[in-house]
Amino acid sequence: METLHMEIKDKAWWKEVVIYQVYPRSFKDSNGDGIGDLPGLLSKLDYIQSLGVGLVWLNPVFASPNEDNGYDISNFETIQPEFGTMADINALITGLHARGIKLLLDLVINHTSDQHPWFIESRKSRDNQYRDYYHWWPAEKGEPPKRFSFFDPDQNAWKYDVATDSWYLHYFAASQPDLNWENPVVRQQIYQMIRFWLDKGVDGFRLDAITYIAKDINFPEITEDELKEKYENNWSYYYSKGPKLHEYLHEMNQEVFKGRDMVTIAETPGIEKEDALKFVHEDRQELHMLYHFKGMELGYTHHAFKQPDPEGYKLSEFKKIYSEWSDAFASEGWGTIYLGNHDQPRMLTRWGNDAPEFRLASSKLLTTFLLTMRATPIFYNGDELGMSNIKFEKISDYRDIETLYMYQYIQKQGGDVDQFLRDQQISGRDNARTPMQWDASENAGFTSGESWISINPDHVYINETAQDADSNSPLNYFRKLTALRKEYLELIYGAYTLYDAAHEQVYCYTRTINGSGIMVVLNFSSELVHYQLPEELPLKNSEPLLNNETSLQMEINRLILLPWQALLFELE
Ligand code: NOJ
Repeated sequence: METLHMEIKDKAWWKEVVIYQVYPRSFKDSNGDGIGDLPGLLSKLDYIQSLGVGLVWLNPVFASPNEDNGYDISNFETIQPEFGTMADINALITGLHARGIKLLLDLVINHTSDQHPWFIESRKSRDNQYRDYYHWWPAEKGEPPKRFSFFDPDQNAWKYDVATDSWYLHYFAASQPDLNWENPVVRQQIYQMIRFWLDKGVDGFRLDAITYIAKDINFPEITEDELKEKYENNWSYYYSKGPKLHEYLHEMNQEVFKGRDMVTIAETPGIEKEDALKFVHEDRQELHMLYHFKGMELGYTHHAFKQPDPEGYKLSEFKKIYSEWSDAFASEGWGTIYLGNHDQPRMLTRWGNDAPEFRLASSKLLTTFLLTMRATPIFYNGDELGMSNIKFEKISDYRDIETLYMYQYIQKQGGDVDQFLRDQQISGRDNARTPMQWDASENAGFTSGESWISINPDHVYINETAQDADSNSPLNYFRKLTALRKEYLELIYGAYTLYDAAHEQVYCYTRTINGSGIMVVLNFSSELVHYQLPEELPLKNSEPLLNNETSLQMEINRLILLPWQALLFELE
């Protein structure tokens, strides 16, 4: 390719890789306890290498009482025994590096577990030396001003603790008290812990809920009107506007990230595209990339928690969000893109169509979208097979505290729990947490014991072994696309231009460098669609570079697209 030789400004390895997210609990169990573990993951490194990905993001594997599947850490520098040992993590770093793949760990520093020694000390007495590691509100000041908790049966982020007659703050579960970032000693302890992992050879971090670390510690009252007018009734928008957020991020950069060849990806709930460059502009020396939630909010009603809109989502709105976020980094900073992860349902069910006749095509189409947009793709394990939501029937099937506490909350309020359970079949996080489907055997090749969460029965026909042997499978399609991204630099660095923004079925865009490159045509619908290609785009030839179907109906520039057909053409 000509472009391989051209000069591209601001190249970086982390802009070029595809990130593969591994949810360790559900990836591969090696010892039959029903829980995925590091030795299991180590046994699958050749598989991961075969995908063509360049960076693995591993969800938390640190010591944890496991209320929130590892996002409640009780010791940052030890490995949760059910996952393995420090020797296993060392072997993972070495094993990935030997295969040319980097490793990203999860950094959970907005909160700890209530079993962390810091919190155990902090709650003992008001004058304990760890008291100011967390946010406390003494009872003599009266009830603390309302703060919302994401995982609490009363949605109350303050928990009364009798030992010191005070409340403590927890934006997530009561077992996840928020750290007090105002305290410089806390910040130094965290930086020291980050250095510990960097010195071991990890290549970077995904920063959990990082927009929430900074708080106004006067805890002003927030009225319902203010919440509605300024924050769209969504506490995330308030929580992400903490006063010293960028001061802390810059300090962390200077203390630990600066000068190292590494990458940071911030999880940034509550931020708007106008805020994005504050986090990732090169000159600010804070972070490298972030992932936003704007796309994830689409297709839910505003009436209830994660309630799918029966009308689905409008493709024009989907295009608008992803185009605007692409444009936000057009000349500075750099973005990421994802359609699913461990906090979202399976992308196939949410954004494609998991009915038998459409699942293969729509899963490949979503993969095409993720790997051809101008952003580093974060691809969730199992999506390369086109895994779908398990759609549990009963609350007892669920393991996730978000679902369990929300169910209790709705029940307490006298709300419609049956409706909630129907909604969760589409939007619940556990849909993405069912085990990887390695083969058609009873436990999908995931475990020889009893899995910690049910395995999707569709593994008998959706599994890695079958797909590896089938050249037309979603798995092999994913491999083709990771290879194409390496061959065509336009797919990484090329400008993004959207066509037919208002079309409600077809998403068409180009990725070009100096006018030449690739056109992407995606039929985001379960219908046949007649589509006229934009006239100003001359194709190099009418043979597509990639087609997720085995046929193509095209006359001059007019296409008859099959349901969920995805095409890549080279431009002249
Ligand atoms: C975001 C994580 O991705 C999610 O799984 C977790 O529950 C919360 N942060 C709290 O750490």
